[in-house]
Amino acid sequence: MKVVISLGGSVISLYDMDFLKEFAKFLRKLDADAYVVVGGGKLARDYINAARKFCRDEKFLDEIGIAATRLNALLLASFFGKNIPHTIEDAAKLKPPVIMGGTTPGHSTDAVAAMLAKYIKADMLIIATNVDGIYDKDPTIYNDAKKYDRIKICKLKKIVGKEWKRAGKSMIIDAIACKIIEREKIRTIVLNGKNLENLENAIYGKKFIGTEVDINDTPA
Ligand code: UTP
Repeated sequence: MKVVISLGGSVISLYDMDFLKEFAKFLRKLDADAYVVVGGGKLARDYINAARKFCRDEKFLDEIGIAATRLNALLLASFFGKNIPHTIEDAAKLKPPVIMGGTTPGHSTDAVAAMLAKYIKADMLIIATNVDGIYDKDPTIYNDAKKYDRIKICKLKKIVGKEWKRAGKSMIIDAIACKIIEREKIRTIVLNGKNLENLENAIYGKKFIGTEVDINDTPA
């Protein structure tokens, strides 16, 4: 089985190497071919925000974000002592587990993960983020936010909008990723990446806490 995991930059941190160690251990023992696309998180946002004061070129700012995602990816890859591919085509040639960051400007690592899932014909795409799934409003701000166990892709598209917003703008799933998931009918689950037992349950088809994206969709 092939699984692509978009590991949000909010889930991993230079200051929590214990979690990265656990994640590397998890990848080693996973009974599936894992492809992990690592996000840039705070590192990317801090660099992009600093540069944005002097630079209006969104493509250039995206390049800064990509560098941050690759730095985070290299940190995880250091547990395996192997370098990271810079394109999905190169990622597909490598023996799993494969770890990579961003590729080209204009989208987030969620979109890279969706493109890779399409390219390698993955069985499943997991968006591993810092909340338990997709909510009707931001659960880190609103206590009464309601989690969806399933969400129709057309409803998700309404939440995330149509366009790639701008460098460093964080969304639960980016709009480009959503389009690919819908078009290619990629089985997609959004869950909390910090809970590795739950992540394992989702991959092995057991009961898990998260949101399944309903790709067999009729308009809401
Ligand atoms: P992320 O994938 O980390 O974006 O890429 P994010 O939406 O902030 O996600 P989280 O918070 O980590 O989960 C960081 C930035 O790097 C650029 C974009 O500007 C993005 O906002 N980027 C990343 C690209 O332009 N292309 C890529 O392939 C990846």
